Amino acid sequence: MEERPAGGGGDHRRNGLPPARVGAIGAPLVALSQVASAPLARLQTGIGELDRVLGGGLVPGSLVLLGGSPGIGKSTLTNMALGNIAGAGHKTLYVSGEESAEQVRLRAERLQPSALEVPVLAETDLDAVLDTIASHAPSVCVIDSVQTLRCADGSGPARPAPGSVGQVREAATRIMGLAKARSIAVVLVGHVTKDGALAGPRVLEHLVDCVLQFEGERERPYRELRALKNRFGSTNEAGLFEMRQGGLVEVLDASARFVAEATRAPGSVVLAAMEGSRPLLVEVQALVAPSELEQPRRVVSGLDRNRLALVLAILGRHGGIGVAGHDVFVNVVGGVRVEEPGVDLAIALAVASAAKGVALNGPMSGTDGGVALKGCPCACFGELGLTGELRWVGHPERRLAEAARHGLSGVHAPSGSGDGAREASTLREALAAALPAVARRHARAA
Ligand code: TYD
Ligand code: MG
Repeated sequence: MEERPAGGGGDHRRNGLPPARVGAIGAPLVALSQVASAPLARLQTGIGELDRVLGGGLVPGSLVLLGGSPGIGKSTLTNMALGNIAGAGHKTLYVSGEESAEQVRLRAERLQPSALEVPVLAETDLDAVLDTIASHAPSVCVIDSVQTLRCADGSGPARPAPGSVGQVREAATRIMGLAKARSIAVVLVGHVTKDGALAGPRVLEHLVDCVLQFEGERERPYRELRALKNRFGSTNEAGLFEMRQGGLVEVLDASARFVAEATRAPGSVVLAAMEGSRPLLVEVQALVAPSELEQPRRVVSGLDRNRLALVLAILGRHGGIGVAGHDVFVNVVGGVRVEEPGVDLAIALAVASAAKGVALNGPMSGTDGGVALKGCPCACFGELGLTGELRWVGHPERRLAEAARHGLSGVHAPSGSGDGAREASTLREALAAALPAVARRHARAA
């Protein structure tokens, strides 16, 4: 039996094994430290928020799945990205299986001028699409959407419909083979309904290198892009966009907007949240109203429903504020989604404030030269434990700095959060600080 050459330069003699034996077992092994690695070359899409979520741009030869419900803006985002890439002198290709070339053109006319430079192929036949990709050899190719591709083989009555699990997987696997062989970055667009009901693209998640989710509410302008999986970057990042007349616009100072829009009414609080590595101030609103239902409503938007249930239980048990017999609605304003433990205190304070009909105590600045200043919104962050303790959450200094940058001081926060925080170690303490009138009433009643 022949000995195979050591691929990565590792000399097997050094590890003391007889050479013949190594060859007989299989390929020689190479320590990870000896594996050749070149820095990843990346293609910038020219859309800062998208590049950041991707981990610095598109990696040649990689497969990105962009999921989102219909109408959210996937085609717009990919059209804009391809336009920028084409404008920077790279070859691009937009494969449209859903819209005619004319429809794609109509959209591109609304976007930046370079969007019209992108070659479009309106085609649903997988073989034709693969042939075109192979002959045109673009640096970046968008397939919109992967569910529309038909595979020619498997014909006859048993042929699976486009969009079925088998077809989607087959199409993606073959596209991946070509993409890797020719170093083409491919973005597969896939429709996913809110509850992830459509089986199609979900089956691709393990196959692709990166899964991006584009979400938001159609009726509202804000759109959020998140990485659910990323072999070439972090999955903590999120990018915020606004859908406008000329396409998607990056929202660079979302905090300023959300703080300016915060109502300061009973039931409103500003959460100093972390969106990946970035702090973001968002308004959390609650409404508590008597219910006529046997099982009162618990409705959330932008939050996890179970999180609300947990916080309501803690609020009742450890904060003395019960909402039994009441419907509770909690909403993160602007269609933003918050998925981090720091949201607990915001839910608790918003619900307590709504239940009592008393606005939360923000840092009142008093008077300025005799003119009464409007109180700043009350801001907070912190996780609640089951025993009613307020727990430390990550990056308090960044959260506090972001709050301070937008004029919010006295942020209600867990102990150990640092300068600028009004610290509390339990929910009860935080409630007393944020709703002093209610706390006094409770004390008198006790
Ligand atoms: P689209 O990108 O087609 O969504 P998807 O591919 O995810 O289904 O865009 C959806 C909506 O965006 C559509 O209703 C029109 C709107 N839109 C704008 O408001 N401004 C624009 O410049 C563009 C191109 C679209
Ligand atoms: Mg579309």
